[in-house]
Amino acid sequence: MKKKKLGLVALLFFFFSASSAFSSDFIVTPPPQSMDKYYSDSGKVSEWVAQMRQMSTAFSAIYVNLDKKNWDLAENKSVVFAESYKKASEMIPEWEEEFDLKAANELKKSILAKDMKKLGTASEALGKTCSHCHSKHNTSVWARYHWPSTKTIKVLDPLDEKELPYGVFMGKLSDSLKRISVNFEQEDFQQAWRSLDNFKKRLISLRSVCSRCHVDEWTKGSTSVKDFFVGDDILAVLQEIKKDFATGEPSEEVFKKNIDYINKRSCKTCHLVHQPVAAIQQTWQQKDPSTP
Ligand code: HEC
Ligand code: HEC
Ligand code: HEC
Repeated sequence: MKKKKLGLVALLFFFFSASSAFSSDFIVTPPPQSMDKYYSDSGKVSEWVAQMRQMSTAFSAIYVNLDKKNWDLAENKSVVFAESYKKASEMIPEWEEEFDLKAANELKKSILAKDMKKLGTASEALGKTCSHCHSKHNTSVWARYHWPSTKTIKVLDPLDEKELPYGVFMGKLSDSLKRISVNFEQEDFQQAWRSLDNFKKRLISLRSVCSRCHVDEWTKGSTSVKDFFVGDDILAVLQEIKKDFATGEPSEEVFKKNIDYINKRSCKTCHLVHQPVAAIQQTWQQKDPSTP
């Protein structure tokens, strides 16, 4: 009987730590400035993340030991947990109310008293504080501290021979891609060929910006980030288009298929990865230009 109950507690814990609590109006505001100091050394694990890990391990250790009916160790871990939970609650004053220190204390007491009912209630309350704060704040913390801004990134435009802001360069890249299709549809294949060369130059130039953010390139294996979105597969497709042009009677079907490939594998996939955060950051900057 007792074993069954313990299993239930463990289940409860995992249920609440896995479930999310997004509210219908999901607003992504910049994290409190008091958080900046925990992320000031980008080469090190943030002190906030380190605290989370320590707290999380202690929290899980409670249930692992309860499951093994090791009450003493479970009690010991609940003390460690309560301390690290309290410490976390003091790190960012603006978020103090996201923590339930009373429940952490109740958890400790319930284990000491071997009171399963209280234990369940306290676990549930604590688990909710984790998932509530994560669903409310993780996205903004990631956008703020884990994602470099495009604001300061300039891209060399090989045609204008100018350093352009990222967004402006994107406009040019997009323009040169569209020109290929416009020229093709008007059956001006010579001009389409030239537009294609221009597009290719710009695409290759884009390769130089990856390392602005992807500082420590993948060291394991031979794959590089630049194999994605701006890789040799895209250049090969451009070559295929040219080959078809060279026949003098290029096929519309082949052309469409190749342009679709570029739209999908270069532009769209890269946008799906990189644009949402860039949009969040830009909204913050518009509201408050001092935001990094
Ligand atoms: C007041 C808000 C808040 C509360 C409460 C909170 N967390 Fe977090 N936690 C965060 C934020 C924000 C991050 C993201 C940090 C980052 O990625 O830089 C995070 C990240 C984590 C991580 C990932 C660390 C990593 O390795 O990247 C774990 C694990 C974690 N929290 C566990 C917990 C547990 C368990 C609880 C409840 C007992 C909890 N957290 C309560 C805000 C909170
Ligand atoms: C403004 C900063 C920024 C620029 C510029 C940038 N990226 Fe990223 N990219 C990121 C961040 C942040 C992630 C999330 C994961 C990470 O940190 O690696 C990411 C993720 C990725 C991923 C998913 C897998 C991975 O490596 O993490 C790929 C692939 C990728 N980028 C390719 C590129 C390529 C190719 C370029 C250049 C053409 C590029 N990125 C330019 C910031 C950037
Ligand atoms: C390295 C990833 C990446 C690749 C590859 C990429 N883009 Fe972008 N693009 C972005 C990001 C990030 C933004 C938002 C940047 C900003 O506004 O600072 C963006 C923005 C844009 C914009 C909006 C510009 C604006 O500010 O109004 C257009 C249009 C665009 N891209 C077209 C394209 C086209 C067309 C391609 C394919 C040929 C392409 N992009 C390839 C990352 C990429």
